[in-house]
Amino acid sequence: MISTIETAAVIGAGYMGGGIAQSLAAAGIVVTLADVSAEATANALKRLLREAAEFEAQGLFPAGSTEKITANLRFAESIEEAVRDVDFIEEAVPEVPAIKHEVLRRICAAARPDAIIGTNTSTLPVKILAPAVSNPERFLTVHFSNPAPFIPGVELVAGEATDPAVIPIVKDMLRRAGRSSAQVADVPGFVLNRLQYVLLKESNSIVEAGIATARDVDVIVRSTFGFRLPFFGPFAIADMAGLDIYAACFKTFEDAFGERLATPALLKSLVDDGKFGVKSGDGFYGKFEPDMAAKLVAYRNKAYARMAQLLEELGPSPLDE
Ligand SMILES: NC(=O)c1ccc[n+]([C@@H]2O[C@H](COP(=O)([O-])OP(=O)(O)OC[C@H]3O[C@@H](n4cnc5c(N)ncnc54)[C@H](O)[C@@H]3O)[C@@H](O)[C@H]2O)c1
Repeated sequence: MISTIETAAVIGAGYMGGGIAQSLAAAGIVVTLADVSAEATANALKRLLREAAEFEAQGLFPAGSTEKITANLRFAESIEEAVRDVDFIEEAVPEVPAIKHEVLRRICAAARPDAIIGTNTSTLPVKILAPAVSNPERFLTVHFSNPAPFIPGVELVAGEATDPAVIPIVKDMLRRAGRSSAQVADVPGFVLNRLQYVLLKESNSIVEAGIATARDVDVIVRSTFGFRLPFFGPFAIADMAGLDIYAACFKTFEDAFGERLATPALLKSLVDDGKFGVKSGDGFYGKFEPDMAAKLVAYRNKAYARMAQLLEELGPSPLDE
């Protein structure tokens, strides 16, 4: 097993693969690209270098990024050539199991046996893709978000056969690329898309029932609870608001919508144990330090005030002008 990732290949240099390749190259990792043909790869490489220069000129990439990306991003004639001698390979071809299987087989036939192989699949469990991988102990999902050059979070999914030792090596690579990562279990849709799709589904139900328009739903999401989400996830928000309050609110939902929106068992058991979040000193996050409430309020106020300033400075999105 390798101990650190210095070289990588990205297979599928489209929207996601291209952004992933830029991000890794900017972090000093030598990245070789391969797409469906040498011509497609050459075009992708040109596009990525042009984009990097534009992003740097617009102040979106740090000064010197284009030079670094140009030095570290390489072209390969084929998948086989790209993966031949690299530490890490990220597959980012279309979300079609047959295409991914075929590409993973070609990767495995040509790569070093100790190369770690990641897939950028959005929804497919590792167990669906792993049968195409030889030495599946080096295979896992490394799921970047769109747009890959700018979104920091990456979901990691280990399959049944994945060697746990692979995880810290990939996490270290992601950390060097300025990414945060979290490991989740091998289920369809993982965590990110499961939550995102539930929100979209419920939003659709609201519009279909005539409760609000799509635009008004979006206004509410981004200007109320969405405003908090860059800083706190749903569990931290609930711990700060009070779990007893949340349990009481779920009662209203349960009465109106039945089992689908009933109080979750995990929340109920905390409340039954007198764990109400920050105010009682214990909650989803476990025990809080005695001065946590004051620290959180200070951080929260600063975060939300800065967020308001940033939105003011950027102005409305073109959809809302
Ligand atoms: N677009 C998103 O918002 C998003 C977000 C997260 C994850 N993903 C996932 O990332 C993966 C890629 O999605 P995308 O949006 O970048 O798609 P895309 O269509 O932009 O890119 C796919 C690339 O793969 C190439 N390709 C197709 N067949 C190939 C083959 N046999 N060998 C080599 N290259 C081949 C295509 O030419 C294309 O450049 C998918 O699994 C997708 O679900 C997408």
